[in-house]
Amino acid sequence: MRKFKVGIIGCGNIFPMHAASIVEREDAELVAVCDIKKDRAEAKATQYHCNAYVSVDTMFEKEQLDVIHICLPHHLHAEVAIEAAQRGVNILTEKPMAIRYQDAEAMVNTAKQKAVALGVIFQNRYNPGSQLIKSMLESGELGRIQAGKLSVTWDRSDAYYQQSDWKGTWDKEGGGVIIDQAIHTMDLMRWFINSDLKYIDASISNRAHEWIEVEDAAEGVIAYQNGVVTAFHAINYYSYDAPVEIELACENGLAKLFADKATVTLDDGRTFIADHNPLESFTYDSGVKGYWGVSHVKQINNFYDALQGKATLDISGEEALVTQKMINGIYQSGKEKRRITF
Ligand SMILES: NC(=O)c1ccc[n+]([C@@H]2O[C@H](COP(=O)([O-])OP(=O)(O)OC[C@H]3O[C@@H](n4cnc5c(N)ncnc54)[C@H](O)[C@@H]3O)[C@@H](O)[C@H]2O)c1
Repeated sequence: MRKFKVGIIGCGNIFPMHAASIVEREDAELVAVCDIKKDRAEAKATQYHCNAYVSVDTMFEKEQLDVIHICLPHHLHAEVAIEAAQRGVNILTEKPMAIRYQDAEAMVNTAKQKAVALGVIFQNRYNPGSQLIKSMLESGELGRIQAGKLSVTWDRSDAYYQQSDWKGTWDKEGGGVIIDQAIHTMDLMRWFINSDLKYIDASISNRAHEWIEVEDAAEGVIAYQNGVVTAFHAINYYSYDAPVEIELACENGLAKLFADKATVTLDDGRTFIADHNPLESFTYDSGVKGYWGVSHVKQINNFYDALQGKATLDISGEEALVTQKMINGIYQSGKEKRRITF
């Protein structure tokens, strides 16, 4: 069994999901962490008994890494991924792949040229509810999808944005509620529909945040090459993170996702339900256990299993590129106030 030397770049909020997943694997060793904030890198290096770096280049030069996990602000994903690929290092990046579609495409092309793996985190695909809907679409039980709608109404306050030196900006976050929060639900819908895009007609606006440049509201239509037309609505000025909702109206019944719980009702009277397995939990840095994190572990396991040749990489760069195209299409349509046809 090959043992991979791993580095994590970015020691912020999402770092623990990656670190805890790596240390659980026998075939991966967390050897380095990197953050421009020295105190963060050093604290994580102490906790995980590895080396701390404040520069990505120095980390690449000093360590013989096989894999990096990118947990950085959005504008840095592409340049760090491309540098890693050029050095022959496999990459698992947090969502979104990049801010611009061309940069995401360059990530895929460089990874292909250098024969390294590129994975993109969309962990909600591994939730039992998402898996139930996907499997009932694939088995044909639900029949053809006729239409879909989704809604995300979350809370990202001015204080949330003021605490971050990159969120709320077009150049560093690349957008607001769409590229950062709703992207998960929009990726799920796209994965369920499993077709390339036909057109997007969307509007974006900032309605309730004084301190940010980017959109806090978006709505529109996304049409797919297989004929499915979907509606979406996303805001992040609600008073709390309300459960996200997806509904797919299908030939043989309805599939609904409410938060992470799926309910599939078939016209023949059968109902199928899937939600979190209470036996599965994730232990945070603080020692507290919770459900959030379980699906990260599953996706990260798939990435390493694929590197070992024991599995197919579920969410590759190519696969995530279609979601990137969708996100960028929403922004282009919203900014140019016109339908974007693919
Ligand atoms: N999958 C999910 O559900 C989920 C949840 C939260 C965040 N994320 C994603 O994870 C990524 C990171 O988000 P976060 O909330 O952890 O952000 P964060 O701001 O908490 O952490 C980012 C870290 O990167 C460091 N950094 C910035 N520039 C750097 C550089 N040049 N070199 C090294 N380090 C640098 C910062 O100092 C910071 O510690 C984003 O892509 C975000 O969308 C995903």
